[in-house]
Amino acid sequence: MYQINDNFQKLPGSYLFSTIAKKVNAYTQAHPEKKIIRLGIGDVTQPLAPAIIETLHKAVDEMGHAETFHGYAPDLGYDFLRSAIVKNDYQARGCGIEADEIFVSDGAKSDSADIQELFAQDVKIAVCDPVYPVYVDSNVMAGRTGTYNPDTQKWSNVIYMPCTSENGFVPEFPQETPDIIYLCLPNNPTGTTITKDQLQAWVDYANKEGALIIYDGAYEAYISEDNVAHSIYECQGAQTCAIELKSFSKNAGFTGMRLGYTVVPKDLKCGGVSLHDMWARRHGTKFNGAPYIVQRAGEAVYSEVGKAQLKEQVAYYMKNAAAIKNGLQDAGYTVFGGVNAPYIWLKTPQNMNSWEFFDYLLENANVVGTPGSGFGPSGEGYFRLTAFGTYENTVAALERIKSL
Ligand code: MLT
Repeated sequence: MYQINDNFQKLPGSYLFSTIAKKVNAYTQAHPEKKIIRLGIGDVTQPLAPAIIETLHKAVDEMGHAETFHGYAPDLGYDFLRSAIVKNDYQARGCGIEADEIFVSDGAKSDSADIQELFAQDVKIAVCDPVYPVYVDSNVMAGRTGTYNPDTQKWSNVIYMPCTSENGFVPEFPQETPDIIYLCLPNNPTGTTITKDQLQAWVDYANKEGALIIYDGAYEAYISEDNVAHSIYECQGAQTCAIELKSFSKNAGFTGMRLGYTVVPKDLKCGGVSLHDMWARRHGTKFNGAPYIVQRAGEAVYSEVGKAQLKEQVAYYMKNAAAIKNGLQDAGYTVFGGVNAPYIWLKTPQNMNSWEFFDYLLENANVVGTPGSGFGPSGEGYFRLTAFGTYENTVAALERIKSL
């Protein structure tokens, strides 16, 4: 008789965004006449930029001719894309990352869930609290997190670094030294970030303690302030202590296309073993490459015309962020984020807990957001709205919230 991986049985409830979708579906079935505005999951609404569509058409045509057809992609991604990434995202910022340190993938979500496979069963992870749930859940599935306490909503073998308004949402070095530290900056869900100097302090800490930072930079395109790093490799010493995850979903609207990459520097070694070689081995065994046409589309993201079009797209979403932030502030809410990230993090009014406010907003304003407690215990009493809606829906949602 076979046995299951019973670590899955330890996971409380369903994945956060699946739970929300179920709740919203139940509401729309009961009230089909209501027009729901969804500012919950961080999914984009603007179409792909024209430069990307044009490139996609060309790549599709190539696939229809024997001379230009492409089968399996190279394990680690096509050179044309890896070179464009290195030139634009790293060399242009003075970071010494090379093309063969880039691993192209089908998105940062899967990489952020899979990267833990490289580490021993008994490593101790540290996460910001609140946190993107994938980091914790993937370690739960791997049997690394101990037992779950439903009262504290914490795992016994996870180090939590609370990020709240009291500490300005800046994670502090934990009392217990972690092995693996997950940092997502600019942050999902709080929409806040830290300065380059603060990030440098984390890099110094990791190098000193022999810890590894998994740095999720999915929201990098939304940085507007000069003192914020666009990559962890802008910090001295990061190549010996950090892996960086990047996504094409948020900067270029690829949520439905699926493309991302992970940087594993060749200098990153654990007891003389190269993590780059390990990830290459893992990638080669378990992944058959992002589709050729999608990698070509990714290359177009770095063309001059692509860059200009995507700058406008980011500005469009950040106009939404400003509208949400200002509108909520006018309505008396306490609001964070929205300056270097497309998320607005607000304190729930009248001491409602996060799920109470979710229900209240859904039922009375027909607006969907994300309850802060879904991201961890320190998210309780907070709520996340995304700036990825259309401008019209964003403004309409705010009118509804203001008139509550
Ligand atoms: C979110 O809403 O937190 C994100 O869209 C989730 C993701 O990027 O996977």
